[in-house]
Amino acid sequence: FGLPLHYRDEIDSTQNAVRELAEEGVAEGVVVIADMQQAGRGRMGRSWLAPRGKGIWMSLLLRPLVPIHCAPQLTLLAAVALCRSLRRETGLDIGIKWPNDLLINGKKISGILLESAAEDERLKYIIAGIGISVNMSQSDYPEELLEKATSLRIASGNSFNRAQLLTAFLLEWETLYKLYLETGFQSIAALWESLSVSLGKKMELTTPQGKLIGVPIGLDGSGAIIVKRDDGEVVTLFSAEMGEPRQ
Ligand code: BTN
Repeated sequence: FGLPLHYRDEIDSTQNAVRELAEEGVAEGVVVIADMQQAGRGRMGRSWLAPRGKGIWMSLLLRPLVPIHCAPQLTLLAAVALCRSLRRETGLDIGIKWPNDLLINGKKISGILLESAAEDERLKYIIAGIGISVNMSQSDYPEELLEKATSLRIASGNSFNRAQLLTAFLLEWETLYKLYLETGFQSIAALWESLSVSLGKKMELTTPQGKLIGVPIGLDGSGAIIVKRDDGEVVTLFSAEMGEPRQ
């Protein structure tokens, strides 16, 4: 994974660049990384701040031979790989907020956006977009984001080498992706649960069907989260507001 790796100085969104490669039929594993994005996108139609030289802004092409309903599992897998590699490299106490935000002390340092394309009910490819706020300082954020967002540098007082973090992530991804394809989702679910900061805590969950307040209690075998609602009813939710690749 990460071969070939395309580096762009400036780009609208690395998601678009990988989509073009995917449509050309390029094999899985290709990565596009950019020093800055002018139109980085986040989940739920939000934009994503990706200033020059301050973070890792990358997209990875996947062509997993799994049924389409398994696609959300890949989101959780990406969060686990990112969390484990960043914890190891930085020594920081990083946790996963459902489904795939990485937090330090309740503030977001990284986000993952998966976009998938299907044909005849079959998964054609997935583009895993990953943004890591590595060396951003307070002044790189608009006021309203400072409450919710942080960077590895703000959280630790140290700058980090982006190439080293990227390499660590790609190696961890490769190990876990292989484990997933060979043994299934169960081992990934267990790792996700052990790194989660969402389990056992009453929270508001935003789903494609709307907002819901409850206590997440674990993942089921398919990657949906099991939530106990205030009225005692237990429901399962998918993170999958996974959109088609957009232009
Ligand atoms: C989120 O938390 O909302 C997901 C953010 C994903 C951001 C990354 S940065 C690289 C890739 N290109 C994009 O335009 N978005 C993703």
